[in-house]
Amino acid sequence: MNHEHVVTQRGRRSRLPITVAIHSTARGRAAGGCRIAAYPHWRDGVTDALRLSQAMSGKCAIAGLPLGGGKTVVSLPLSYDMSTTARRDLLQDIGDLIASLHGAYATGPDVGTGPDDMAVIGERTDYVFCRPESAGGSGDSSLHTATGVLAALRAVCAHRFGGDDLSARSVAVLGLGRVGAHVLRMLAGARVIAADVDPGRRDLATRYGATWVSPQDCLTADVDVLIPAALGGLLTAATVPTLRCAAIAGPANNQLDVPATAGLLHERGILWAPDIAVSAGGLIHATARELLHETPEQAAQRVAAIGATLTGLLDTAAGTGITPAAAADQLAAGRLLVS
Ligand code: PHE
Repeated sequence: MNHEHVVTQRGRRSRLPITVAIHSTARGRAAGGCRIAAYPHWRDGVTDALRLSQAMSGKCAIAGLPLGGGKTVVSLPLSYDMSTTARRDLLQDIGDLIASLHGAYATGPDVGTGPDDMAVIGERTDYVFCRPESAGGSGDSSLHTATGVLAALRAVCAHRFGGDDLSARSVAVLGLGRVGAHVLRMLAGARVIAADVDPGRRDLATRYGATWVSPQDCLTADVDVLIPAALGGLLTAATVPTLRCAAIAGPANNQLDVPATAGLLHERGILWAPDIAVSAGGLIHATARELLHETPEQAAQRVAAIGATLTGLLDTAAGTGITPAAAADQLAAGRLLVS
């Protein structure tokens, strides 16, 4: 294990297993969202926390933020139905666990959590980003994550197709959660297909003029850019041969099942934009506003800079014959050492 500190604890109130993984504090306090999700076994949630917290170290380093990498994962049993009171109990348990780390780690929203949840965690600890603005935080980060994704898409299209006009492109949005829905809205004008595991999101897709398809068809669609905006692990030795996109750039964390999959994409000529660069907008905005006390304009500039950061990575990769994933890893590793 490469991590500095990992704790898994059963919540006093909720009785649910909560893991906080701190990968690195070399650049500063560890930061990373709180994921509440169902796993076949609680240990799978621990494994996810280890991988996701490591990715957060890279994400913070590439974004140039004075933060390290961490993550919280609550492993719910499959098809677990939580009442509002039980959820409050769980969030307070999470807050207590974070408080016990005395500032080594601060959390934020992630899959399965949002600003209102951050407010409840904030009843137990100050180390929480993205509480609602009425509760003193910078609010919902998903819009800023989506803004960063759009900046990344323009950079990818400029690199791959020689122009950053997204309306000239066809894209497939896989996942219409908080971030995916914003991305879909912002893509108005492009040719878009969209999918989600929840059939209830179909109306959202059609409202924005997207063609609704199954998640499987979305993954393998013949489009310019695939935008993974749901859970990770979708790019594998089994799925890469079935892809028909020219490029991939999206906000889902840990899109590659294992690092070697980046090589498979490269061999197929599919340009993969490293997720740790593409997905950083929410984190960047929250950090700029809440930690660095910057203005909304300064925060927006930092989010927009994801485009230039990604262009740098893609140019380095193309110029040296390595994968964009390797370029991202090298940049992050360098910044984790010299900080
Ligand atoms: N879910 C965010 C991410 O993966 C985590 C986050 C957002 C953390 C905002 C802090 C503030 O980057």
